[in-house]
Amino acid sequence: MNENFVCKNIGVNEEGHLTFAGQDTVSLAKEYGTPLYLMDEDRIRENMRVYKKAFAENFPEGSEPLFASKACSFAQVYRIALEEGMGIDVVSSGEIYTAMKAGYPLSNAHFHGNNKTDEDIAFAIRNGIGFFVSDNREELDVIDREAQKAGIRQKVLLRLTPGIDTHTYEKINTGLVDSKFGTAIETGQAEEIVKYALTKENIELKGYHCHVGSQVFAEDVFEEAALIMIRFIGHMKDVCGYTAEYLDLGGGYGVRYVAGDGYINIAEKIRSVAETVAKASAEAGVPFPKILMEPGRSIVADAGMTLYTAGSVKRIPGYKNYVSIDGGMTDNPRFALYGSKYTCYNAGKMNEERTLNASLVGRCCESGDIIAEKIDFAQSTCRGDVMAVCTTGAYNYSMASNYNRVARPAMVMLKGGESYIAIRRETLDDLVNLDI
Ligand code: LLP
Repeated sequence: MNENFVCKNIGVNEEGHLTFAGQDTVSLAKEYGTPLYLMDEDRIRENMRVYKKAFAENFPEGSEPLFASKACSFAQVYRIALEEGMGIDVVSSGEIYTAMKAGYPLSNAHFHGNNKTDEDIAFAIRNGIGFFVSDNREELDVIDREAQKAGIRQKVLLRLTPGIDTHTYEKINTGLVDSKFGTAIETGQAEEIVKYALTKENIELKGYHCHVGSQVFAEDVFEEAALIMIRFIGHMKDVCGYTAEYLDLGGGYGVRYVAGDGYINIAEKIRSVAETVAKASAEAGVPFPKILMEPGRSIVADAGMTLYTAGSVKRIPGYKNYVSIDGGMTDNPRFALYGSKYTCYNAGKMNEERTLNASLVGRCCESGDIIAEKIDFAQSTCRGDVMAVCTTGAYNYSMASNYNRVARPAMVMLKGGESYIAIRRETLDDLVNLDI
C-alpha cells in the first residue's frame, strides 16, 4: 500500500508490518514488550542539526538553539544534546539533576519556570547553572540573595509577555497579557521589572525572553513576537540606557500529528525571523541581539512512536467501536488534556483494508482515557495485535503518570538499524518503592 505517512521515518515492509526508523515495529514489540516508547535517535539528531545549522547561518555568534527538555527529559536525550552541541532549557530541580547525572554541563543550561522555589534556585546556583530565565520580582530577590551567598553575579534573562495570540489551544497559549507566565510589556510592568533587575548587585541582566505558545502553526507569530521584543529593547535603551545582549524567542513550532496538519520548514522560518530581527534592530537603533530559541516538540515529537498490544475489541452495533490497549492516558494523557489528535495503526496489518472505525482507548478506569477517536483499523483487529501511535516523542513520556498504579513503559532508542533500552520498564516493585 502506498501511503503518505505523517513522518519521514515511518514505512511498511514486505511483511505488511509498520516500520519505524527502518525497523519492524511488530518485532520490536515482541523483543521489548508493550507498552513501549520508541525513540528514533537519528531523527532527534537530525532535528537538532536543522536548528544548529539555521542558527549558524542566520544569527550572530553566541546565538544558539536550546532543547526544551520538558518535552522529553531523560538521561540519554541530554547526552545526545551534548554531543550535538545543543544548549538545554530545564524547568525543575528534577530536570537539572537528570541533566547533571547524564554529564551535561549546567553552564549551558537555562533554568525556566514561573515559580521556582528557594530550594530550586539555591540548587541551580550551587551547581553552576548558566542562565536563569526569571519570571517575576520575588524570584529575582531570591536569585540575587543566593548569588551573593555563592559570591557570583548570576546571568539572568527576564521573561516578558509580548501580548500575542498564537491561536493554538488555550492551555498552551502563553504569550497573552493575562498569562500566568512572565511580565507584560503592555501594562508597563516589564519596564519596571527591568529597572528593578538592574538594581540588583548580584544579577547580571543579559536580556529578555518570551514564549508565545506551543504547537504553533500561525503565520508570522515568531516574527511578530521578535518585532515587539526588539522594539522593547530599543525602548529600554532610550529609557535607561540598558541594551539587551540576548533575545530568547522561546519554543513552539508545530509538528504534524495527522495528515491534515501543516508542515513547518524550520530553516525557512528561522531565516524569516532573522530578517525581521535585522530590520527591527536597525529601526530601533540597537545591535542585532544574540538569539536563543527553545524548541522542544519539533526536536523530539516525530522521533517518537508508542507501541501497544490490543486487548478487547468491542463492537457496539449502531453506536461505536473500541479497541482497548495495554496503556493509555498513563503514558499519553494528551487526548484527555487537550483533545489532541494522533495517527494510529494496527502495526501488523498494514496491508489489510481498514474498515473498522474505532476509538483507541486505554486501560484506566476513566471514560476520558482515550488515545484517539475515529480511526480506521484493519477489520480483523483482535486481541494480541500490535497497535502503533505515531508522533509521540514529545510530552508523552514526560507527562506519564502511575494513575491506577499502572507501571510506565520502557523507552527503546533506535539508531542506525540497532536498538537499545534508554529507560527500563517500571516494575511492580518500583511502584511500591516509596510506600512506607
Ligand atoms: N520554552 C518555554 C518557556 C516553554 O514553556 C515551552 C513549552 C517550550 C519552550 C517548548 O515549546 P515546544 O517547542 O515544545 O512547543 N504539554 C503540552 C505542551 C506544553 C508546552 C509547555 N511549554 C502538550 O502536550 O502539547
